[in-house]
Amino acid sequence: MRLSLRGAAQVLTPPEPGLPYLRGDRARELRLEPGSVAVAGGRIAALDDDAGADVVVDAAGCAVVAGFVDCHTHLPFAGWRAGEYEQKVTGVPYEEIARSGGGIAASARALAQADDDAVLAQAETLAREMLVHGTTTLEAKTGYGLSVEGELRSVDLARRLADRVAQPLTVTGLFAHSVPPGVERQAWMDEVDGLAASCDVDALDIYVESVAFANADLARLGEIAAREGVPLRAHVEQFNTNRSVPVALEAGARSVDHLACLHPDDLAPLARSECAAVLLPGAEVLGAEEVAPGRALADAGAICVLATDCNPGTSPVQSLPLVIGMAVRRYGWSVREALAAVTLNAAWVLGRSDDTGSIEPGKRADLLVLDGPAEHVPYRFGRNPVAAVVAAGELVWVRPDQAWRVR
Ligand code: NIG
Ligand code: FE
Repeated sequence: MRLSLRGAAQVLTPPEPGLPYLRGDRARELRLEPGSVAVAGGRIAALDDDAGADVVVDAAGCAVVAGFVDCHTHLPFAGWRAGEYEQKVTGVPYEEIARSGGGIAASARALAQADDDAVLAQAETLAREMLVHGTTTLEAKTGYGLSVEGELRSVDLARRLADRVAQPLTVTGLFAHSVPPGVERQAWMDEVDGLAASCDVDALDIYVESVAFANADLARLGEIAAREGVPLRAHVEQFNTNRSVPVALEAGARSVDHLACLHPDDLAPLARSECAAVLLPGAEVLGAEEVAPGRALADAGAICVLATDCNPGTSPVQSLPLVIGMAVRRYGWSVREALAAVTLNAAWVLGRSDDTGSIEPGKRADLLVLDGPAEHVPYRFGRNPVAAVVAAGELVWVRPDQAWRVR
């Protein structure tokens, strides 16, 4: 199948081909220039029109950008926790909710009670909603199993989800999400070690916080990840400053996620490293968290990334355009910086930036047609700008009011 996205007002391209990620200065050099994109055999064929294309999308007035990569979600999970959100906004702190049986434990109970079909159906619906908002690659995590059997089931559910969604999906073993009730932290880390050895996952993750795991556990998970040959990721500095970033860097982590309470002394070493700073403004805004130092990280040259953190507790958010809107306002980022953070840099976190995340000939044809200029994405806040989605070269979504563009 040959496809042409013809006559766009803006095509987003990197400052040079072959870059694995864009640090602050390079992100600012992203180009948004008029043009067309030709697709053949599932790949980007040329930054040009294809006069003989089987399908043409009239992209007049549109921006064509790389498909978004959501590198931090907690799919699949069961049900929601709207009641907790009301508690939170009316003044009960997250840690208190967690300590009184809510939080992760509540979602673990819901998962244990739900049958596989119900969990997969909910996650599939969410992945579809993400697709309509431009997400063409996503990550799923375990973490609501809270027992060895539960986590094994979570890995299995995530793998089965991958077969049911339009997007490529990577699976992260967040076995160290919460210490199961009645189990010692160290004893659970022994189980985490066993799970990591026996499960087929694409990365390992841990939640370091007063209500969860400690820096020593992060260091240990780093050794486990190195032994298993998978990237280490870590939820750190979300509610408190635990100085987990130096530990993650020492362990060679691929990403540190959240960072609302990043210690100022840890910013420069993080920015110098190849460990990505994954910022999650959905969780920050809805949890009334501190503001991650997004501007300072970008200025210091960090590999800055945005993701939804889609989960039933801290961030029940599916839309990366909404996340871009929050990030631009909250961190003082330009639209180019935000776009780099949901495309090439997010693909880097998942180890996929050689194949997706930017518009370059030869890469997978994961492309979005936005219904206006890229600058409108954050500015027209809360609105979905995605007119059409191309995934692996196929036109998988056209918004009904934009159907006239396709011929
Ligand atoms: O990324 N912080 C830890 N984990 C999730 C929240 C999980 C939950 O509350 O269900 C997060 O925010
Ligand atoms: Fe998370």
